[in-house]
Amino acid sequence: MKPLRVLVLVHPDLMPPESSKGFSDQEINNWKTEYDVVSTLRKAGHDVKPLGVADELKPIRDEVETWKPDVVVTLLEEFHGEAIYDQNVVSFLELMRVPYTGCNPRGLMLARGKDLSKTLVHYHRIPVPAFVVFPMRRKVRRPARLALPLIVKSLNEDGSYGISQASVVDTDEKLAERVNFIHERIGTPAIVEQYIEGREIYVGVVGNDRLRVLPVWELTFGNMAEGDWPIATEKVKHDPHYQERRKILHGPAKDLSPDLVARIQNTAKRIYKTLELDGYARIDFRLSADGTPYFLEANPNPEIAASEEFAAAARHVGITYPDLLQRILTLGMQRAAGRVSAA
Ligand SMILES: Nc1ncnc2c1ncn2[C@@H]1O[C@H](COP(=O)(O)OP(=O)(O)O)[C@@H](O)[C@H]1O
Ligand SMILES: [Mg+2]
Repeated sequence: MKPLRVLVLVHPDLMPPESSKGFSDQEINNWKTEYDVVSTLRKAGHDVKPLGVADELKPIRDEVETWKPDVVVTLLEEFHGEAIYDQNVVSFLELMRVPYTGCNPRGLMLARGKDLSKTLVHYHRIPVPAFVVFPMRRKVRRPARLALPLIVKSLNEDGSYGISQASVVDTDEKLAERVNFIHERIGTPAIVEQYIEGREIYVGVVGNDRLRVLPVWELTFGNMAEGDWPIATEKVKHDPHYQERRKILHGPAKDLSPDLVARIQNTAKRIYKTLELDGYARIDFRLSADGTPYFLEANPNPEIAASEEFAAAARHVGITYPDLLQRILTLGMQRAAGRVSAA
C-alpha cells in the first residue's frame, strides 16, 4: 500500500503522546484510541498528523488546503462540547471534498437519535424495545403500554453518559426522578425504554456497499454486586479498575445456534442499510432468553482502540488491527472517488 498523508482529528485533550510509557492505566485509557490509531498508521508507513479540534473549523481547512491529506480520520466525538455536532464536522469535510473515514453525516444523524433510529428500524419489522420520549420539562407519566422495570437514558448522548445502576427503575417514583435527572443534569430529553433482560450483544459491520459482518460479540458481567443490573454503565465502559474487579469481559458470544448467529448478523446488516451507515459501525442488541435480538442502538464510528470490541471481533476472524485501519482508510477514499465519478 502506498504511503498516505493522513490527518487525524482528535479532541485536544486526547492528543496522544509519542509513547505510552510512564502513564497510568486510567490515563492511557483516556486516549488509547487516538494513540492506537496514530501509532499503528505510522508503523504502517503513513505520514500521520494528529490535529486537535474543539471549536474551530479553520485549522482543519488550513491543513486540508496546505498539507493536502489523502484522507482525514475523524476520531472527534464532539464539537463545541456537543456530541450531536460530530455530523456537522463531517459535513464540513464533505463540502471540502476531502476523503474522510467512517460514517457519512446523514448516517450519523439517523443513528444518533435513539428514538429516530428505533422508529426506522421498527418499520422494517426488526424487534426494538417499546419506548417513550420525555422532552425537556414534560411531566412524567408512564404510558400503560410500558411495564416496569424500565431504563431511562439521554435521548442523544452516547458512551453511556448518564447511565448508572439508577437508570433502571422499578417504580413510578424512581422513573420520574431519573427522567428529571436526565433533563437537569445531562441537559437533554430522555428516552424511557422497556428494560430487556438478556445478553449484551454487539455486531461490527464494515463496508460502504458490499458489507462484511464481524462475529457476534458479547459483553459479560462476571461478578456484579448483589442486585445490580447487568448493563453497560459509564463505569463498566470506562473504568479499567472496575472492569477488573467486576470481571467485565468481552469475547465471541458462545452457545448460539448457527441459525441464530446468521439471523443476528443479517439483522445487523439490515439495520446498517436502513440507517444509511457506511465506513464501519457497531450494532448493539440485547438478546432475550427466548432468542430475540432487540435492537438497542447503532454506533457509527464506534470505539476503534485495539483492545475494544470492534477490533477484537475483527481480529477473531483474522483481520489484524493494521489491516482493519487500512480497510477503513480505503473505504473512506473509495467513497470519495465514487462521488466524484458519479458527479
Ligand atoms: N432497553 C434496554 N434494555 C436493557 N438494557 C439496556 C436497554 N437500553 C440500554 N441498555 C443498557 O444500557 C447500555 C447503554 O445504552 P445505550 O442505549 O447503548 O446508550 P449509549 O449510547 O450511552 O451507549 C446498553 O449497552 C445496555 O447495557
Ligand atoms: Mg451503547
